[in-house]
Amino acid sequence: MSDAKLIATLPGDGIGPEITEVTKTVLNTVVGEGRLRFEDHLFGGASIDAHGIALTDETLAACKAADAVLLAAVGGPKWDTTNPDDPRPEQGLLGIRKELGLFANLRPVRAIDALIEASPLRPERIKGTDLLVVRELTGGIYFGEKTRTETTASDVCAYSTEEVERIARTAFRAATRKVTSVDKANVLETSRLWRETVVRVQATEFPDVVLEHLLVDNAAMQLVSNPSDFDVIVTENMFGDILSDEAAMITGSIGMLPSASLGNPDGPGLFEPVHGSAPDIAGQGIANPLAMFLSAALMLRHGLGWESEAVALESAVDRALAGGLRTPDLGGSANTAEATEAVLSNL
Ligand code: IPM
Ligand code: MG
Repeated sequence: MSDAKLIATLPGDGIGPEITEVTKTVLNTVVGEGRLRFEDHLFGGASIDAHGIALTDETLAACKAADAVLLAAVGGPKWDTTNPDDPRPEQGLLGIRKELGLFANLRPVRAIDALIEASPLRPERIKGTDLLVVRELTGGIYFGEKTRTETTASDVCAYSTEEVERIARTAFRAATRKVTSVDKANVLETSRLWRETVVRVQATEFPDVVLEHLLVDNAAMQLVSNPSDFDVIVTENMFGDILSDEAAMITGSIGMLPSASLGNPDGPGLFEPVHGSAPDIAGQGIANPLAMFLSAALMLRHGLGWESEAVALESAVDRALAGGLRTPDLGGSANTAEATEAVLSNL
């Protein structure tokens, strides 16, 4: 028991608890009973209800002490507010990313053969797409100073060269063909610093990796018109947030996209689906658990270094889809339990 890896699980809100439970079952089956120990902690809206804040010191300490953090989703209409003084579930998410030092968010996007028809984009456009969005996660406008009066508001976007350098390195290391750096250097000062820094990191440390630059508006267009042209996209926090949701439609559904947040070699990584808490379908047992399963696979790979187990889980998901598994978001009728069963039977 003692050498079991400790996983801090943060089920959060909405569909979070449902998809967390089935993911534990799948993980135990993939790696074998007893190799993982799960500890649930309150997070997001659930934590606001219990303690008045989205991320308590207890939950944060428990995450820091774990080998990896597996997070489902936070938020819901119950906690929606425009009052800046009210607690918000999303503060928990931003807080934990920052506190754990997770500046690199990896969002792989692959056109899965079995789902080519489920995408709203034409098959010939998306076929062969296999890209990685490397999103800077702890800087930029998300974390800059905010001001608010009755009639004005501001959010500061700031980056330092050090912040850009380290995320650029992550991107160059991950590239197999090229890195596309996305910015708005024709308008934003942070983008000009970004571009200059990425160019320098490439020239001095990764001269063999091809580097290109796209303005974010153009990148948004290229993502749907020519997605298979991309390899690694590296971009700042908010552009990465927006572009990764757009890229999700290449897979057919945002319910398919996993993510890994890394960056602190001395602490745990955090693994979470890109989708939200889907309050409209919460509690009905119909949520697509696949993005959570695939996030769990990223946890096995990047968080625990268990590559073969990660591959086993990913290929079981692939085979389940090839065998016809479709949840409602993919145009089918499989519920969460059936989707789980389909993956388990392909392990
Ligand atoms: C994401 C989400 C979060 C973000 C929200 C919930 C704060 O959209 O992980 O992409 O913007 O980072
Ligand atoms: Mg988002």
